[in-house]
Amino acid sequence: MAAGNNKTRNRDSRRDFLAKVTRWAVSLISMALLYPLLRFLGFTIKPKPRYVKVAAPLPASGFHTEREFILFVDHGAARAVSRTCTHLGCRVNFLEDKQIIECPCHQSRFTSKGKLISGPAKKDLATFPVEIQSDETGTTTGYMVTL
Ligand code: FES
Repeated sequence: MAAGNNKTRNRDSRRDFLAKVTRWAVSLISMALLYPLLRFLGFTIKPKPRYVKVAAPLPASGFHTEREFILFVDHGAARAVSRTCTHLGCRVNFLEDKQIIECPCHQSRFTSKGKLISGPAKKDLATFPVEIQSDETGTTTGYMVTL
C-alpha cells in the first residue's frame, strides 16, 4: 500500500512540475510575441530628456555645432536643429558660406531652420526646444537645449 502511495505522489509531483514548466514556457513565449507587437503599435517608453548647456555668447557666425544638434541664434531667438539626417541617419553639417545644412552621405540639403530643400531625404530635420538663460541684469548667459 505504501509503495502505491509513493508512486501516486511521485506522479502528482511530476505532473505539478510539468504544469509549472508549461506555464512558465507559455508566459515567456507570450512575452516574446507581445513585445514586438507592442513595439509595432507604438507602446514605447519615452527616454528621459537630456539637457545640453551651451555657454553664451556664441561666435560671431551665430551658430554653434554640437554632436547632436546645431544651435543658431539670430535676433535674440535661438533654435536647435538636429544633426541626424532624415534619410539614413548620417550626421549633417552647416555650410556657413552657403547658409545651408548639407548631409555628406547623399547630399540632402536643408535650410538653417531644418526645412528640406532637396532630397533624397523626404522630411525636415528635427528641432529641439531651446531655453535662453540670462542673469539678473538680463544678459544672456547660455542656452539650454532639451534633447
Ligand atoms: S543619409 Fe543624409 S542624404 Fe542620405
